[in-house]
Amino acid sequence: MEAFDVDTTSMKNRIGERRKDFPILQRQMNGKPLVFLDSAASSQKPDVVTSAIKSYYDKTHANVHRGVYQLSQEATDAFEKSRATIQSFINAKHSHEVIFVRGCTEGINLVASSYGDAFIREGDEVIITTLEHHSNIVPWQMVCEKKGANLKVVHVDEAGEIDLDDYKSKLSSKVKMVAVNHISNTLGTINPVKQMIDMAHELDIPVLVDGAQATPHMKIDVQALDADFYVFSGHKMYGPTGIGVLYGKEHWLNKMPPYHGGGEMIKTVTFEKTTYNELPFKFEAGTPNIADSIGLAAAVDYIGEIGLDVISEHENDLLNYGTDLLSSIEGMRFIGTAKAKAGVISFLVGDIHPYDIGTLLDKQGIAVRTGHHCTQPLMDHYGIPGTVRASFGLYNNMEDLDRLYEALTRAVNILS
Ligand code: ALA
Repeated sequence: MEAFDVDTTSMKNRIGERRKDFPILQRQMNGKPLVFLDSAASSQKPDVVTSAIKSYYDKTHANVHRGVYQLSQEATDAFEKSRATIQSFINAKHSHEVIFVRGCTEGINLVASSYGDAFIREGDEVIITTLEHHSNIVPWQMVCEKKGANLKVVHVDEAGEIDLDDYKSKLSSKVKMVAVNHISNTLGTINPVKQMIDMAHELDIPVLVDGAQATPHMKIDVQALDADFYVFSGHKMYGPTGIGVLYGKEHWLNKMPPYHGGGEMIKTVTFEKTTYNELPFKFEAGTPNIADSIGLAAAVDYIGEIGLDVISEHENDLLNYGTDLLSSIEGMRFIGTAKAKAGVISFLVGDIHPYDIGTLLDKQGIAVRTGHHCTQPLMDHYGIPGTVRASFGLYNNMEDLDRLYEALTRAVNILS
């Protein structure tokens, strides 16, 4: 059986027990047990992740790729083992296609800047969609502005699904990149990225997939998707903050110039000329985030042990249960009703401001995100200032949703 292809009913039954792996979930907030429903912003961490980081610092830390001494070699081995773990997690063909970055945002900026420098010219086009997070809008706007290129935005419908006819009509030989998220952070829509990649490839257009919301919830196979670039953050998938991954196909990464200059990314330096290191080091200037790469690998092992199929099914059950429960609240308006959805419920109630609902939920121990969720153009599409968003992790259960329902009912009674 593949390491990330676990599918046993006994695991499904045991997923509830995993809650105890997350010490923070024992906390009280405003005198009530914490119900954490903001995993799309950042997930909580199991103790195997925090202890892997502590153990690394306690026993193995030294700089990597620099020392002949044993400790440095042990640190290097641990760091490169993390890379191999990520390679297997996303099924990349080569480990040197896995570049460690600070997070999804840095990965997208790296590609926009480096690929943009090499391949985007005046009059070219970059395609994104209305569903994008600001981190998959602004870097492309910056490169378009710098190069005199144009940003094209694919429409979404009222349900929050990408209009594939509009996408098709925008694909042309002028397009030099398609950048699309795999799962919308605000609506939870699971986008048809495989289909979009295939359509773009018919015209030899590369595709970057922002996988920030997908890697904690579904099995990713970058080779099966045929994604040219796939980026994600550690902290949304039970790993540490400050570490993320840019996967890029070798042939693209080899053609792209470095993003940051400094140590590690060079082969030789003279004052006249520098030659660059091979992949992946060409894109990893400076001392890398060794400890958090090890924490991220621990998170990947943790997810792999439970099984992403089991996690997806559990979160889908929560989505269905929560959607049914909340739909009975008068004035409930769900924002994002796509057929294929991950564990996100975005909503408004009547004309109550989302911040007011969020504040009263917090008083009852419920943590949700409110506002535009870094997707202002998507909020403009719906003509709303923001939403209340409940998003799930593997540690949530039906009781959390019962608590949300009760607290929301109370809040709405007070605010109506
Ligand atoms: N992108 C994160 C969110 O959706 C921060 O909340």
